[in-house]
Amino acid sequence: MTARKQSQHRLQLPPLNTLLGGMTPKAFLRNYWQKKPLLVRQAIPGFGDLIDKEGLLALACRDDAESRLVRQRNGQWQLSHGPFNPSQFRRLPQRDWSVLVQGVNMLVPEADLLLRPFDFIPYARLDDLMVSFAPTGGGVGPHFDSYDVFLIQGIGRRRWEIGTQQDKTLVEEAPLRILKHFQPEETWDLEPGDMLYLPPQYAHNGVALTDCMTWSVGFRAYPAQEMAMEFLNFLQDTLHIDGVYEDPDLKPSRHPGKIPAPMARQFKSMLDKIRWGRRDVDAFLGSYLSEPKPNVYFDPPARPPSPAGFLKSATRRGLTLDPRTRLLYRKDMFYMNGEEIEVSANHQTPLRLLADTRALPPGLEMDEPLALLLHQWLCAGYLALGPGR
Ligand code: SIN
Ligand code: CO
Repeated sequence: MTARKQSQHRLQLPPLNTLLGGMTPKAFLRNYWQKKPLLVRQAIPGFGDLIDKEGLLALACRDDAESRLVRQRNGQWQLSHGPFNPSQFRRLPQRDWSVLVQGVNMLVPEADLLLRPFDFIPYARLDDLMVSFAPTGGGVGPHFDSYDVFLIQGIGRRRWEIGTQQDKTLVEEAPLRILKHFQPEETWDLEPGDMLYLPPQYAHNGVALTDCMTWSVGFRAYPAQEMAMEFLNFLQDTLHIDGVYEDPDLKPSRHPGKIPAPMARQFKSMLDKIRWGRRDVDAFLGSYLSEPKPNVYFDPPARPPSPAGFLKSATRRGLTLDPRTRLLYRKDMFYMNGEEIEVSANHQTPLRLLADTRALPPGLEMDEPLALLLHQWLCAGYLALGPGR
C-alpha cells in the first residue's frame, strides 16, 4: 500500500446503528447470527479505499502474508499460493481472476480498526480480516464456508448470489472448493460500504461487476474432532503417569502369539490413570484460543526502554496491543499469545481493560509488578507505547 493512502484514509469507526442497519447487537445475535444472512446497505458509509489495488497486490508479494490467486480459464479453476512476484500480476488478463490476502488486520494497522465495531462478538471467535481484489468477472466461485463471515464491499461493485441448498457436492477436479450444482435463491449487487453477513454452510458466489475489493471479517469455526485432538496434544505435555509394566508372576506360555489377559488388564489400568478436569480444559482453551497462527511473528523493538523508562512513558502515553496479539482471559487467568499467566487480584482490572479494549489509556496507575509484566510484553513485541499507529 502506498504511504499516501495510509496517512490520508484513517478509518472512521462507524457507529453500530449503521453497521447492523439500525439493529442492536443483541437483536442481530438473536435473529441472524449463525441463523440467516443479513444484507446491510451502507453499513459503513464512505468505506472503500483504505487499501487500493496496488496496495493489496503488494501485500500479496510479502512473505509474511498468506495470499492466493484464483483464476478461471476456459471454464477451469486455477489456484496458486503466494508470496507472488509483481511480474506475475502484470501478466494477468483484463478479467476473471482474484487475489486474496488473509490476516490483513495484522499487516496494516489501520485495517485492524475495522475489526473493532465487531467486538460485540468475543475475540475468541474472531479469526481475521481477509481482503480480496478482483477485476470484472473475478471471484472464487460458488462454495460454502464452515464459518461466519461479514463481507464488506470496498471499492467497486460485486454481485452476491446465495442459497440454502443441501447438495454440497463439489467439482472433483477443481483445486478449490467449488459447488457442482449451485442453486442461487437470492441475488444482491453490493456497492461500497454495503455489507452481507453469512452464517456457516450458506452457499454463496461473489462475482466482481467492476474492479472490486471485498473485506471479509471472518470468525473461527471449531470442529469438535479438531478440538478433541488438540486437547489430547495438550494433555500429552502435562501428563505424568508413574509405573512400568510388570509381570514377575509370568507363567510359561503355550500360545506365545496371544496377548495375555493380565497384560491387557494392566495396560487398561495404566490408561485409566489418564485424568483431566475443568482446570486442564480451561488451561487448554485459553492457550489454544489465544495462540497466534503459525505464520505470525512478532517484531520486538530494536531498543526497548528500561523498565523505569517504560513505566514513565506508559503512564504518559498509554499502551496498545499489537494487532497480531491475542489476549484473552477466563476467571482470574490470562492467556497472552498462547501462554497462561496467573495474575494477582489487583492487576485483574487493568489487564481485563487491556484485553477488552486492546489498549490502556494514559494516566493509568501501575505498580511495579504490573509495569514489569507489561514491559516484558513490550520487549516481546506484543504491545507498543502510545495510542496505536
Ligand atoms: C472474496 O472473494 O473476497 C470472498 C470469498 C468468499 O466468498 O469467501
Ligand atoms: Co466464502
